[in-house]
Order: sequence, then structure tokens, then C-alpha cells
Amino acid sequence: MKINLSSFVSKKTPLVLFVCEKDLFLPNIPEGKKILEDAKGQGFTGKEFSTATLQPASGSPSSLVVLVGLGDKKNISSETIRRAGATAVKRVRSLAQKSFQVLNPNLLKNVSSEIYALTEGLVLSDYAFNKYKSNKEEKMLPEEATLIVSEKYLDSAKESVHLAKILSESACFVRNLVNEPPSHMTPGNLVSLAKEVWKEGKSSSVSIKIYEKESLAKMGMGSLLGVNRGSAEPPFLVHLHYKPQGARQSVALVGKGITFDSGGLSLKPAEAMETMKMDMAGAASILGVFRAIPQIKPKVEVHGILALTENMPGGKAYKPGDILKAMNGKTIEVLNTDAEGRLVLADALAYAGKLKPDVTIDIATLTGACIIALGSLVAGAMGNDDTLFQQIQKAGEMCGEKFWQLPLISDYKEGLKSPVADIKNISSVRKEAGSIIGGLFLQEFVNGGHWIHLDIAGPAWSDKEFHYLSQGGTGFPTRTLLHYLLSI
Ligand code: BES
Ligand code: ZN
Ligand code: ZN
Repeated sequence: MKINLSSFVSKKTPLVLFVCEKDLFLPNIPEGKKILEDAKGQGFTGKEFSTATLQPASGSPSSLVVLVGLGDKKNISSETIRRAGATAVKRVRSLAQKSFQVLNPNLLKNVSSEIYALTEGLVLSDYAFNKYKSNKEEKMLPEEATLIVSEKYLDSAKESVHLAKILSESACFVRNLVNEPPSHMTPGNLVSLAKEVWKEGKSSSVSIKIYEKESLAKMGMGSLLGVNRGSAEPPFLVHLHYKPQGARQSVALVGKGITFDSGGLSLKPAEAMETMKMDMAGAASILGVFRAIPQIKPKVEVHGILALTENMPGGKAYKPGDILKAMNGKTIEVLNTDAEGRLVLADALAYAGKLKPDVTIDIATLTGACIIALGSLVAGAMGNDDTLFQQIQKAGEMCGEKFWQLPLISDYKEGLKSPVADIKNISSVRKEAGSIIGGLFLQEFVNGGHWIHLDIAGPAWSDKEFHYLSQGGTGFPTRTLLHYLLSI
């Protein structure tokens, strides 16, 4: 969707107005009183995300007016504005309008963050994964939105719109990767996409290294190779690197990229497998970050490390009871081949450790337990540095992505002791603290520096359309990661 900025309302396209509940009024709008009276006549009260469509008589600022309720004024946050933006897009779409205007409501203390949230709401709801639908030629409506802001805010609004567009479009790019069928989005195809992302960033100090099976074996990545054994598709490790001049800090982003998780020989039940094309969402979000990096140029060195393979139960598949040796020399007894994410991350984290980054962030759809604990809107976070968690949480607050910390209780490590290897891939205490166990396992492969593990099993995927999220991949936590990088 094209987004314009203006400080004038035009009569030509529909006008969206945001209205609070209780003190229902429209400031600075000619005919505002009349419009509201008509809306009330339709039963509109300003309730959160309710809408009313009106065709006011001459004298009004536009011939078609759409009111979107924001609910009680005292509860309005930037997330309300983001969601109201999505409501506006859907309403205008249902009216088959090509373009519309939306008056920035000026309700938040910080006007730039309000415009930022509004733009994100518009861009994120301008998404559909319809390339496999027969009528894919149909253009998504609306095609154009104009934000109306008062003249004194135009300059800062321009910056907010620019940033929101880049970040939200990167999130939509990630959604596409996650939504693609698993037989298309193989490890090899993700490598091709990583190369495309690199080509775009080449002139902005981005480089790429791609490790194939033989190199992985040479580096001693027995854990990633073990997971790959049951698959007909070759594994890869991708290392993207952005090094701007004068950077004083470095961050390594490490992503789980299981392009399909069947569970391996510890096969998942059919229903649990239905969404397992999304098990590469962590790796995909890192590609989203690198897609945006050349445009926003953060002042920090960034490594993106993607561990890519399928987890399949082929004839050569790794088996419960097998012992794998990771790159850092630790041996792992595999008791459940469905706990494969931690195995591929073991090698990817050990690889990242060799780069000696100041901060390591791993991103993984790691445990179903995290969905049980925090639901589908909140990611679990575990690590060795509370300040780093707070920075991530704050970056998330800027874009409506939520994180909650879980404690890495070291006593629980007892359950990971193996009688035959250095560590097991699942705990002998089966039904407890599954997400924390995953974090404790990963910790054994982190080599120094500040580290945080983000378990995105819940929020990487949405079972249904929800405000600005469409059904399927959500793009989580691409926008948070970018805000975090910009905050350094
Ligand atoms: N990819 C899954 C986790 C997952 C589940 C992500 C549901 C998104 C939605 C992961 O590889 C897995 O299967 N984990 C197991 C771990 C268990 C065997 C210790 C799980 O969560 O059951
Ligand atoms: Zn699994
Ligand atoms: Zn998995």
C-alpha cells in the first residue's frame, strides 16, 4: 500500500476518523456534529474497533466518512492505534475503495509513535498469501492511504512513516517465507533467498558465507548433521554479516530453520504436524532483519546465522538412543528426535561463539510448552542478562510484540544428565518446565557474552486473522529485532 502524508483533507476519497467512546466528539471537522449524530443513529458508540459508514451531505470534508471506535480514551495505547489502522483498512476494503484518507487522532503523548503505529497497522493488514489461489491477479484494496497530520508534525511524521513501512514490509516478507509450502521452502530454497537478501545489501557492507554438508562435517557439526540424516534435502548453515564502519558492538542472531518438522522417528501426530512448515520462522525472521538492514543502517555489527534442515523420518534418520557430537565437542544423547531445534541450535550457537559477539540472540519455535505457558501472543525469553531482556521487551513495546521472561533454574539441569553422553536432549522429568529445559540445554552451547533465547513457538504463527495479523506466519519478531538493533 502506498502511504502519503498531507495536512489537508481532500473531498475525493473516503475519510476515516477515529472516535473515542464516552466523550464521543469530532474536533476540527466541519459538520462533525451532524456526522456523529447520524452515526449514533446507526447505533455507533465508539466502542473499540466498531465502525460506522456515512454519506454526509455537502459541507462535510468528504463524501464518504468511516468512523472507527477506539474505546475508552484512558485505555488508548499505540497498540490501539495499530489495531484501529487495521480496522480502517478492512472497512475500506469491504467498501471496495482504492484509496482513503485517515486523520491522525493525536491522542498519544508522542505523535511520532502514534503515526508509526498507525502506519504499521495499515501496512501489516495489507497482506494476503494468495499466490496459490486461482484469482491471484486481483489487486489488494485499498492501494493507497493518505495520513492527515497537522503541518507542524509533517517532518517527524515522514520519518515515522518511513521506518514503519520498512519494518512492516520486512515482517510481511517473513510471513511469505513462513507461509510457503514446506516442499517449496526447502533448506536449499532458503539459501537462494538468503543470497537474494545479501545481493540487495552487498553495497551496504553485507557479506555471506554458505556452508554445505561437507563443510559442516569438517567443522564438526554432528548435531545439525544428525537431525538432517532422515531427510532427502541437504542441510545448510548460512552466515550473513553486516559490518558498518565504526561499529563498536556486535550482535549475533541465531535462527532455528527447520523447514519441516515431522518430529522425525519420534513422529508427531497428524494434527500437530499441520503447521510445522512454520518451524523455520526463527531463521526467516533473521532474513527479514537483513532485508531491512541496508535501508535502516544500524550502527552495530550484526551476524545472522541460520541452521537449515528438515526433520524427517527417512531410512537413515537419527534414532532415539543415538549420540551426536556438537561443534563444541559436547556429546548429546538423543532420546526424542522431535526435540531437534535445540540440536541444530547447539551447533549454530557454538559457531556464533567463535565470532565472539557481545550479544547473542537465538530465535526459535522451540517448544509447544511455551504456547501452553504464554499463549499465542507472547514469546518466552530466557538468558543470562536481565538488562538485555529489558532492552528486547522495550523494543517489542515499540511495535506491539510481547516477551515474557522465564527463569533458567539451574537445579532443573539435573534432568538433562545422561548416563552415556555429556547431556540428553530431553529431561527425565518429562512433564515439567519444557521451555526452561530447552533454554537450559541451549545454554550449554553458548560460549561467553550476553545471551538471550527467544522461544517464539506461539507468536510466530496465528491460527486466525487477528487485527493486523493474517492467518499463518506473523513475521514475529522481525520488527522487535530491528528496533533493538536501532537502539544500540
Ligand atoms: N517445533 C516444535 C515446537 C513447536 C510446537 C513449535 C508447536 C510450534 C508449535 C519442536 O521441535 C518440538 O517438537 N518440541 C517438542 C519438544 C519435546 C519433545 C521435548 C515439543 O514441544 O513437544
Ligand atoms: Zn520437533
Ligand atoms: Zn521443531
